[in-house]
Amino acid sequence: MGSDIFEKCFSFHAANKLKKMGYYPYYHRVESEQGPEITVEGEKRIVVCSNNYLGLANHPKVIEASATAAKRYGTSCTGSRLLNGTNDLHEKVERKFASFVGKENAILFTTGHHSNLGALSCLVSKSEVFITDKLDHASIIDGCRLSFGQMVRFRHNDMNDLERQLIKYKDKGMLIIVDGIFSMEGDIANFPEISKLAKKYRARVFIDEAHSLGVIGANGRGTGEHFNMEADVDILMATASKSMASIGGFIASRSEVIDYIKHNARSIIFTASLPPACVGAIDASLDLIQQEPERRVKLMNTAKKMKEAFKSLGFNTNNSESPIIPLTVGADIMAFKMWRMLFDEGVFASPVVTPAVPEGQAIIRTSYMATHTDDHLNFILEKFKKVGKACGIIA
Ligand SMILES: Cc1ncc(COP(=O)(O)O)c(C=O)c1O
Repeated sequence: MGSDIFEKCFSFHAANKLKKMGYYPYYHRVESEQGPEITVEGEKRIVVCSNNYLGLANHPKVIEASATAAKRYGTSCTGSRLLNGTNDLHEKVERKFASFVGKENAILFTTGHHSNLGALSCLVSKSEVFITDKLDHASIIDGCRLSFGQMVRFRHNDMNDLERQLIKYKDKGMLIIVDGIFSMEGDIANFPEISKLAKKYRARVFIDEAHSLGVIGANGRGTGEHFNMEADVDILMATASKSMASIGGFIASRSEVIDYIKHNARSIIFTASLPPACVGAIDASLDLIQQEPERRVKLMNTAKKMKEAFKSLGFNTNNSESPIIPLTVGADIMAFKMWRMLFDEGVFASPVVTPAVPEGQAIIRTSYMATHTDDHLNFILEKFKKVGKACGIIA
């Protein structure tokens, strides 16, 4: 007789161990909207772990557009995009997004995760190869795993290692996939070199702009615009769950590529479409990203100020170039302990531990919003200074 598949659950004690120590950082109950100040389990805390980069999740125009869409179209589309789940609002935001990022066409999935699953798994076939950065987001890895294609990895942002992989597989069809801004590290993909190598070896390039859309580029159009080479991005993916203050995921590219994905990506065919309220929020957010560029300017100024301040306190901010600033703290247990101490001091941060980072290089990931005030930022710095000193991370 085989073993009971529940055995692994009965012997899973990692979460309870952390709870007993008072260090459990997950699934805490937020009782307010997602702004710089939130209520977590009855107490006000300053947030330093949100992806609401432009602060649009509480913008009156976004809330109004979301409510209006729900009133007009109802709460659910009750079916897949392929069959009964496409309405005129989905098509409107697809056209708006494609035009914003300068691509021929775009398709809207129900989440960012679904867009990576669906697009990647259908684009690379059995005899072809995914060339991925070692620190690419988990949803990219999941998309590659769902394909019959081969997946190889190059060292993070290491162009010599990328070229080694391209040479190795040069006789096959290849897709290079990178995060624009890496989600934990906050650094930016070396797109100029990636693009040069892609052309040399006839590979295509896919950029996941989850953390970069609305954030970098003169108009917030992401990594391609940041490097002034938008036309060289073959496929642009962006999630709506961060700067676009909603949920959903876009893939934008040439019309033929979008048409192929529309009819072959299992994660759009076999799931219900994005509800109208979420599409309405995206519609308004896409307008505001373009109409209120001062949000992006404020966000990047905040990122610069915080990076410099953390560095002068003695923290290791790694190679962050964005509103994501990771602070290296060492062992996983130190990240959990610091998370708890910060929480008790009124700061809500994120510990990131193995396997998301290499052993011994746990971080407290901090991220910023255009709506953080100087008072919020000074409060955050004061508390990090106190906790960092108490834990021996800074002198
Ligand atoms: C780089 C990256 N890609 C994709 C996703 C998935 O997006 P979503 O959470 O909107 O499904 C995330 C979300 O955390 C991400 O950080």
